[in-house]
Amino acid sequence: MTLYESARPLLFALPAETAHNLGKRAMASAQSSGTLRRAIRYNYRYRHPMLEIERFGLPFESPVGVAAGFDKNGEVMHCLSDLGFGFAEVGTVTPYPQPGNERPRLFRLPDDEAMINRLAFNSQGADRVANRLETHGTPQVPVAVNIGKMNSSDEHEAIEDYRRVLDRFSEQADYFVLNVSCPNTPEDYDEQSPDHLREVFSTLEDENENDKPLLVKVGPDSTRDSLADLVEIVEEFAIDGIVATNTTTDHDELTDTHRNEWGGVSGEPLESAATETVATLAELTELPIVGVGGVDDAEGAYRKIRAGASLVQVYTGFVYRGPSLAREINRGLVELLRRDGFDSLEEAIGADLE
Ligand SMILES: Cc1cc2nc3c(=O)[nH]c(=O)nc-3n(C[C@H](O)[C@H](O)[C@H](O)COP(=O)(O)O)c2cc1C
Repeated sequence: MTLYESARPLLFALPAETAHNLGKRAMASAQSSGTLRRAIRYNYRYRHPMLEIERFGLPFESPVGVAAGFDKNGEVMHCLSDLGFGFAEVGTVTPYPQPGNERPRLFRLPDDEAMINRLAFNSQGADRVANRLETHGTPQVPVAVNIGKMNSSDEHEAIEDYRRVLDRFSEQADYFVLNVSCPNTPEDYDEQSPDHLREVFSTLEDENENDKPLLVKVGPDSTRDSLADLVEIVEEFAIDGIVATNTTTDHDELTDTHRNEWGGVSGEPLESAATETVATLAELTELPIVGVGGVDDAEGAYRKIRAGASLVQVYTGFVYRGPSLAREINRGLVELLRRDGFDSLEEAIGADLE
């Protein structure tokens, strides 16, 4: 039994958000000590040339990253990189601070290896998060900034919100992810309507003076036709990739006592829908895809890669499996690539596509 497996019942006895904040506090204090950082890196960081890959002009030492929402305010980036993640996504960051929904708003569903959240973009706001990244520096691995809008913003204000966040992080972010697929934010208009997306993309294209890669994050509940429409719009603009997927609104498969809490579902029940979305997108476009949803081991990461993902991300799996997850996935991926006769990760991407 790992240390995390022994500590998990204690952590899981706490409300999910309290446990999350406690875990992050431990990570923040670990990253403030040089000795601890070296010890963590030594134990958890696993690198192998077969796993190296370049996407949107950025070098990734490992294709396994941390998904948006884990480190919304950029507080534990260094620790995540020490734990062996090959990249991390800060945010969603909104232009100004906002509290999100009332608590409780995050639930663990251990019977389903899932979580439900309705946080709704609780963020310290762009200035505070950007100042933190400036003060603490960004880790050696690529850092994405996930950009979102204020919950009170209408269709037009939302565009200004995205522009502000992009502008504020133009130096610190290695790439950006535009989040138009959060199922928990109030929606008075269709965030993914073609007209709105065109206006957003064209504004961000003009604003992106440092020419940082810009990706868009989609949900798992879209039909093939709507994904095809999205790809058509994405390809009209200088969009560099697609993150698939955000949480799902589908609660049908859930069995845990918390199954009726409203909010987006992440973790195991999302895995196949997310992988199918990756595969559909990979059939529709040559753009790089970041696969996310229900990955909690090397096999799950490998399924996303074979479905067409160049990079994968984890969130819920990290909560259930603990700090050794990146190491396990990285090691396991090398074994799976070798088993199937691939010389590199690159060769396996999309191997399951017709
Ligand atoms: C508590 C929580 C908060 C999240 N917050 C965000 C967010 O702020 N922005 C975003 O784009 N995705 C957010 N997500 C979605 C994750 O980035 C990811 O797309 C989703 O959880 C599926 O991955 P998983 O099954 O590995 O958790 C959040 C997920 C969880 C569980």
